[in-house]
Amino acid sequence: MGQLDGKVAIITGSTSGMGRDTAYRFAAEGAKVVVTGRNEERAKAAVDKIKAAGGEAIYVIADTTDLSSAQKIFDACMNAYGTVDILINNAGMLSLTPFLDLTMEEWMNVLNVNVTMAILLGQLCAREMKKKGAGHIVNISSVAGTSARWGPTAYCTSKHAMMGLTKAMARELGPEIHVNGICPGAIKTAMLDSAGGEAAMTGMIEMSPLHRCGEGSEIASTCLFLSTAESSFITGQLIRVDGGVDC
Ligand SMILES: NC(=O)c1ccc[n+]([C@@H]2O[C@H](COP(=O)([O-])OP(=O)(O)OC[C@H]3O[C@@H](n4cnc5c(N)ncnc54)[C@H](OP(=O)(O)O)[C@@H]3O)[C@@H](O)[C@H]2O)c1
Repeated sequence: MGQLDGKVAIITGSTSGMGRDTAYRFAAEGAKVVVTGRNEERAKAAVDKIKAAGGEAIYVIADTTDLSSAQKIFDACMNAYGTVDILINNAGMLSLTPFLDLTMEEWMNVLNVNVTMAILLGQLCAREMKKKGAGHIVNISSVAGTSARWGPTAYCTSKHAMMGLTKAMARELGPEIHVNGICPGAIKTAMLDSAGGEAAMTGMIEMSPLHRCGEGSEIASTCLFLSTAESSFITGQLIRVDGGVDC
């Protein structure tokens, strides 16, 4: 018996990286999974892999710089499975542009993908979860949501917003819905590669008592913990999964 048998989970940004690892883990635990992203080839491959392992999943292609994507993702989930129990707001866009060079176009794209989508999808899913009397929402922030040391302006600001959003959602959506967040450190994904990969993280790795980057599966297991009764007295919390870089 899986920990998520009978549950339906939307995982944004699950065509790649830690979102995809979470989709695989959730499907292995019995959840019906909605995979989302822009890349259809990777989305289809993820769904095919889940089905080949005996799981259940669909994919929705949606660019989340376009805010109408929230309704598209939610509708696809409702049409396929008729409900939603878990929302993992994971899709994220890295911006390395320094403050003085940041354009409003880039800022709005980062804000839409990293924060506004979580609000819109959160509203749609929370209404359904309230009706059912239960639900779990996990927002993926970052260590860049805790300190400007770990990311430049747009990314850092958007991830700080995810911290506040998590606490505000938890306070307003309880007691039926648990809302928590995760602050990953350096995790081995395509996003980390785009920032220079592990070689660019030597400072962070040295600061970590564990002396390594994390794996997507280590974020997936934390998402699982925060989506089950194993975390029944935890809400409004941001859990750092970062190898202890700032401890
Ligand atoms: N890796 C790290 O070290 C690290 C550290 C802290 C926090 N995070 C956060 O972790 C989350 C997952 O990142 P990751 O490291 O797993 O990166 P990743 O492998 O690059 O995955 C990012 C995911 O987000 C989706 N996405 C990005 N922009 C999108 C857009 N405009 N519309 C729709 N989907 C979009 C991508 O889908 P498509 O490519 O199919 O569009 C992909 O599935 C992000 O929120 C990121 O900020 C990562």
